[in-house]
Amino acid sequence: MEGGAVKKPVAVLGGGTMGHGVAQVAAQAGYPTRLYDVDPDAANRALRRIRRNLDKGVDLGKVQESTREKTLSHVQAVPRLEDALDGVALVVEAVPEKLSLKLEILRRVEPQVAESAVLATNTSSLSVDALAEGLQRPGRFLGLHFFNPVHIMALVEVVRGSATEPDVLERALHFVREIGKEPVVVKDSPGFASSRLGVALGLEAMRMVEEGVAEAEDIDRVLELGYRHPMGPLKLSDLVGLDVRLGIAEYLHGELGQEHFRPPKILRRMVQEGKLGRKSGEGFYRWED
Ligand SMILES: NC(=O)c1ccc[n+]([C@@H]2O[C@H](COP(=O)([O-])OP(=O)(O)OC[C@H]3O[C@@H](n4cnc5c(N)ncnc54)[C@H](O)[C@@H]3O)[C@@H](O)[C@H]2O)c1
Repeated sequence: MEGGAVKKPVAVLGGGTMGHGVAQVAAQAGYPTRLYDVDPDAANRALRRIRRNLDKGVDLGKVQESTREKTLSHVQAVPRLEDALDGVALVVEAVPEKLSLKLEILRRVEPQVAESAVLATNTSSLSVDALAEGLQRPGRFLGLHFFNPVHIMALVEVVRGSATEPDVLERALHFVREIGKEPVVVKDSPGFASSRLGVALGLEAMRMVEEGVAEAEDIDRVLELGYRHPMGPLKLSDLVGLDVRLGIAEYLHGELGQEHFRPPKILRRMVQEGKLGRKSGEGFYRWED
């Protein structure tokens, strides 16, 4: 991860919504990037998604053809975990949001990488300290919370665990800047900064719909036009998935005990009715596609 012409390899574990994007931006910055997914079809799908993103970038004039070719030559799907980890300086895990699964994969990874390698999680809500518990050296671990779609979104929330070593943080920040993203460092705490703020706003907007203060579209327009939010909190909740939002609200309410994180009735009802937002075709909005 150190600067200079030759970049050390990076491994991305899990090639889904987030993993393919993390692999893309690493490869685009010139890191030899290995993508490992337990499901070989998913790994191949991830490569196709990367190609599609780059093709679109070229069509829009935002990516040069030579960059597309270089990026594709820097990323490969590697079917065996041990091969993916060979000689890497950084591992970013982006497997599903399940504590036991992440603990297991991190425990498998640690003995297979060099002492100097940095281990990172892309968790959006789990505690970095809890994930570090299974590691021999928790000081080499931290959160790199990317945003979806990774190749577009500028922010990476860098989550410092209580054991994260200063040098590890520095190297992670260097990587984030090298891939053209803006790091913001936060302490490990429930919801970090992004989910805690985003969910608080979304839940309040839902309570306002419930109380009949205004229609969903109008509440969103208030924040879009009055506060220059690129997208209102209800539309954003639909995009994230109302079931996902409910899960995070329950978690934050349990962890922080604050009343404003108690999930509103309207959210529970919509999830029960299968109105999950964009992915089910209906949430606070109707979605086609
Ligand atoms: N989706 C989002 O908007 C978003 C945003 C920020 C962070 N995150 C976080 O990123 C992580 C991944 O989320 P996602 O939305 O990309 O999930 P996803 O379901 O789209 O992808 C997960 C991938 O991991 C693979 N996988 C499962 N078990 C594995 C294992 N043991 N080893 C290797 N690969 C394995 C799956 O086959 C799948 O391809 C989660 O921790 C999530 O909370 C998601």
